[in-house]
Amino acid sequence: MFDTPFLDIPPLIAAEGCVRLPGSKSISNRVLLLAGLCEGTTTLHGLLDSDDTRVMLDALRALGCAIENGGASTRVTGLGGRLAVHSASLFLGNAGTAMRPLTTALALLAATQGGDFELRGVARMHERPIGDLVDALRALGCTIDELGQPGYPPLRLRGGRLDLDQPIRVRGDVSSQFLTALLLALPLVAAERDIAIDVAGELISKPYVEITLKLLARFGVVVRRDGWQRFTIAAHGDDGAYRSPGELHVEGDASSASYFIALGAIAAADGHSVRIEGVGSESIQGDIAFADAAEQMGARVTRSANALEVRRGAWPLRAIRLDCNHIPDAAMTLAVMALFADGTSRLANIASWRVKETDRIAAMAAELRKLGAVVTFGADFIEITPPVQWRAAEVRTYDDHRMAMCMALAAFNPLAGARPGVPVRILDPRCVAKTFPDYFETLFDVVRAEPEDIPVITVDGPSASGKGTLAAALAAALGFHYLDSGALYRATALAALSAGVGDNDPAALARLGGKLDLRFEAGSTLLAGANVTEALRREDVGAMASKIAAWPELRDTLRALQLSFRRLPGLVADGRDMGSVIFPAARLKVFLTASAEERALRRHKQLISKGFSARLEDLLADLRARDARDTNRAVAPLVAATDALLLDNSGLTIEASVDRVLAWWKERSPFA
Ligand code: C5P
Repeated sequence: MFDTPFLDIPPLIAAEGCVRLPGSKSISNRVLLLAGLCEGTTTLHGLLDSDDTRVMLDALRALGCAIENGGASTRVTGLGGRLAVHSASLFLGNAGTAMRPLTTALALLAATQGGDFELRGVARMHERPIGDLVDALRALGCTIDELGQPGYPPLRLRGGRLDLDQPIRVRGDVSSQFLTALLLALPLVAAERDIAIDVAGELISKPYVEITLKLLARFGVVVRRDGWQRFTIAAHGDDGAYRSPGELHVEGDASSASYFIALGAIAAADGHSVRIEGVGSESIQGDIAFADAAEQMGARVTRSANALEVRRGAWPLRAIRLDCNHIPDAAMTLAVMALFADGTSRLANIASWRVKETDRIAAMAAELRKLGAVVTFGADFIEITPPVQWRAAEVRTYDDHRMAMCMALAAFNPLAGARPGVPVRILDPRCVAKTFPDYFETLFDVVRAEPEDIPVITVDGPSASGKGTLAAALAAALGFHYLDSGALYRATALAALSAGVGDNDPAALARLGGKLDLRFEAGSTLLAGANVTEALRREDVGAMASKIAAWPELRDTLRALQLSFRRLPGLVADGRDMGSVIFPAARLKVFLTASAEERALRRHKQLISKGFSARLEDLLADLRARDARDTNRAVAPLVAATDALLLDNSGLTIEASVDRVLAWWKERSPFA
């Protein structure tokens, strides 16, 4: 996951490959609630692991459900309709799919079994309406206090007396989640009698209600539907409100699929395709209809039961006018596809955008305009005309995962004629954790940029100048990959030492370098599967590395390996010749200097702190010898590239050095 303040996506030019979708958020939180309310244990496979499901799991745990997480499956042992805990305070983040149904279930349970529950969330959750649901529950006899603004969470549910004689009325034109919440929870009190719900107003987002009905059926609940106006939950007698299906497989998220369907439509040309696994023609999620909308815009979609394959068809895409009521979430992706269309697109009947994670109509308009698009909008529609002149934009995401995910696709601007292509900066990319924590990694796996558009920062300098620390910190701050090129020479040295190859046998050394099986994983370096992180730092290994690094044969072999680290979204590389030889066109080159005395002192401190014994004089002499070898060798000697910026960090803390370089980077960024 990218946990950085921003993520810069370079201009992209093509897409190809296969993605496996994370589990559906809508299905995950519904089945978690149902499994939590029913009797016995339900094993859920392929559950989404994200912010929204985590708050639901935490809430169920707090209510006394037993939950076992076993990798790809989660076992939930439910309450069997009986409260195990009669008082709790639950934090539900910004998860509407947790807030609405838990409010309903706990209000009903507190009214029939006694209880006192508080439900709250993040600030935005306290701006998302729930008044119509509260009204419906109060009419049933539940006692509910609004602890903040009337009509909004936080809420306190404290008992009441149910009166089920009246049919229940709920508004359907603000959020379908109110109806879904009632449908999911009312079986709890439907032992003796059928319970009818009447929907007032035109029901929006009907496909989400269909998901609810299908999942209720999996849990043995029978609901009769008369049009979209009346829903009747059949009395279950002594059978228990819900019957666990035992096991349940959660489909991939169809809303998440929309980004990759769009990706195929925009960028899978020349016989390539994007394959999406986890949803297909048998999906129960309404957002699968996004594929039809994408086809209208020109996508070529091949459907199988549990997968989609998408290619570019019409290009540019065809502008559309579409009523998006049936695909409110995925329709945001259409708004970004509209950037690549042959005219003005209009997405209508999207008023529900205003009460989602943010006011999505206003947010979308503001951010698309930054890219250069012409946008008009009203209370329930948005119209988008593609940019004539694309601009590098800093895209705000409003703590809205979908803003981040769909706006990333604007990076394909070179395909819409942007010359040169412009990068897209996504602010607060971490917000995708709501439904798709690995979204950007998944995206970068299947897209391509011109190599020269993938930014590289080089940090060169002598031994022990702090290059590694600085470069790794820069990479972490920018979400870039990190190449410690010295580790390649050290790994070759280590391999040579253990194979008994001498430092004077360039052919054998090059052979070793050519088949280095080196992997960098979470702070560790693995050589042929063995953890060599510590071994690589050994003094004898460093000395051997410094000697063998003078052989052109070895440098040549390691070159290709080093170039292969230039991957999306960018690279920070440290070494001796990163800026001068390997990445001569790097966007920013830093040359670190620090006196030999200062470097020896640092190295000494480092060794002592790790429990090694070392003499300062020896370290200093050794560093001087290495500097001399690195500087005087015939190939790729240690020199600052002519366009490198010098940074003498002798008197600087690591943080100050990092800030200095980030400031240089900012000066080079195209964002206003
Ligand atoms: O940076 P580090 O001390 O880990 O590098 C080990 C040795 O590898 C250095 O002494 C240097 O001789 C060599 N090296 C190199 N070119 C690089 C990185 C390291 O010659 N890009």
